[in-house]
Amino acid sequence: MKIMIIGGGPAGKTAAREASQIGEEVTLIEKNLLGGKCLNEGCMVVSGLNDVAKFFKDSQRFYELGISSNPVEIDYEKLAQGVKDTIAKIRSVHEAETREADIEILNGEATVQEGQVQVNDEEHQYDRLIIATGSKAFIPPIKGAEKAATYEDILDFKTIPDELIIVGSGVIAAEFAGIFSSLGSQVHILCRNQFLKMLDEDVKKYVERKLLENVEIQENVQVKLIKKEGLYTDNIFLKGDVLLATGMRPNSDIINEMVNLGDRGEVIVNQQMESNHKHIYAAGDVIGGIGTTPVARMEGIVAARNACGIYTLADYSFIANSISLYYDVAFINKETNDYKVDQEINEGSIPGFAGPGSFWRVLERNTGFTKVKVQSESGEIRDVSSISPSARTSLAYVSKMMRDNYKTHDFDDFTETHPSTDPIYKLMRYFSKFG
Ligand SMILES: Cc1cc2nc3c(=O)[nH]c(=O)nc-3n(C[C@H](O)[C@H](O)[C@H](O)COP(=O)(O)OP(=O)(O)OC[C@H]3O[C@@H](n4cnc5c(N)ncnc54)[C@H](O)[C@@H]3O)c2cc1C
Ligand SMILES: NC(=O)c1ccc[n+]([C@@H]2O[C@H](COP(=O)([O-])OP(=O)(O)OC[C@H]3O[C@@H](n4cnc5c(N)ncnc54)[C@H](OP(=O)(O)O)[C@@H]3O)[C@@H](O)[C@H]2O)c1
Repeated sequence: MKIMIIGGGPAGKTAAREASQIGEEVTLIEKNLLGGKCLNEGCMVVSGLNDVAKFFKDSQRFYELGISSNPVEIDYEKLAQGVKDTIAKIRSVHEAETREADIEILNGEATVQEGQVQVNDEEHQYDRLIIATGSKAFIPPIKGAEKAATYEDILDFKTIPDELIIVGSGVIAAEFAGIFSSLGSQVHILCRNQFLKMLDEDVKKYVERKLLENVEIQENVQVKLIKKEGLYTDNIFLKGDVLLATGMRPNSDIINEMVNLGDRGEVIVNQQMESNHKHIYAAGDVIGGIGTTPVARMEGIVAARNACGIYTLADYSFIANSISLYYDVAFINKETNDYKVDQEINEGSIPGFAGPGSFWRVLERNTGFTKVKVQSESGEIRDVSSISPSARTSLAYVSKMMRDNYKTHDFDDFTETHPSTDPIYKLMRYFSKFG
């Protein structure tokens, strides 16, 4: 069977590998760079910049403590070039792995017609088609918004902005605020409603007070006009470079006449990732769901298996999400957690442990924060949020344990490594005593 996949990001690449492993003939079409937004503009850009931002913050702390002598200076153009070079290296590995997996890669922009795909003026027949074209930055209907930067422009900044005004209230706003405030920018975040509304209130407070401590966050602010040199809200003018972090819109134009789309242009699929058009599947950001790489990969696998005739359903229960700041902030995605507020729940929270990545913050009382919600009697784990140097990794395993219905008492024989900065098991053990 001939499987064609449009889009070489996490969803498309994973779908291609899965279908090829199953033994089908696979063609992957990418118009820009293999690896998609995650590798070239998103996750890896944030990783590269955040590593340096954390190093810079640490170096200032060591200087203040008299441990090191010279305050470090950052050359942003060199930093951006270093991130680009490293990404190019990772991409070459991805390309080699994809070709070794017996996947044909076509470079070019695909368009679709009934039963065939056109790339570079050539027509290709398919038996099954997977749309994995991702999403792009949403430019809100604010006058002058086209003058502002988005995440796509971050590596083209020439210097670290003196003043950076971020419009938006989600993960991207938080991550770039963390990076640029650590590198020395005066950062303002303007939220039309609430900042990081997906977080537990206590976790959000910790993020604002301890991880974005130098960022001015304003909620319930309407931006009226954006100019090259700043922006106007309903009552003031703020001077600075403007960065939009106002969400994404699916890249579904190439398929909009063939499949059903939702209000924001997302391809509507069932749990098998199949659209209303038989033999056309979609996965990743183009279906407008959770919008993270692991979920895009999971959907790519599900789409590929079903396209190859292996019945598989996507499972969205207890998905772990994260935010990259000085510490990882990790939490169970609310939309994927069936926890009901009317259930009788006990909650507990503790500060993070001293250990690798947090030791030098002990004197500032900034070692992180972990909170769990459990149903004490049954030992059911209902919700977990954690801020620590290792939270992103720990929470992925905890989400798997929640999916597999682990209870607090299952942590009775948990043996940690030491020194470890993961306090989740300690709270679980504490609550297991009440069961
Ligand atoms: C700044 C930022 C930081 C992020 N950080 C994280 C993070 O830390 N962790 C996380 O899990 N997620 C993160 N994300 C989200 C993550 O990048 C996306 O969820 C993920 O990339 C979605 O994968 P995808 O394959 O669906 O789409 P994409 O990665 O967008 O890939 C789609 C691909 O399709 C190609 N394409 C589109 N149209 C065509 C066409 N007509 N023909 C051929 N090719 C086409 C595009 O060029 C692109 O390469 C971040 C996003 C951003 C913007
Ligand atoms: N670490 C990670 O996993 C990671 C990192 C970065 C990005 N991502 C993913 O990338 C995607 C994009 O991130 P994001 O932070 O841009 O998106 P997001 O979480 O969807 O947040 C977008 C924000 O933009 C605001 N907004 C929308 N229209 C606006 C307008 N007209 N004026 C002012 N504000 C407006 C929204 O405000 P309201 O709240 O008021 O609606 C919302 O808070 C998400 O899917 C995210 O999960 C993931």
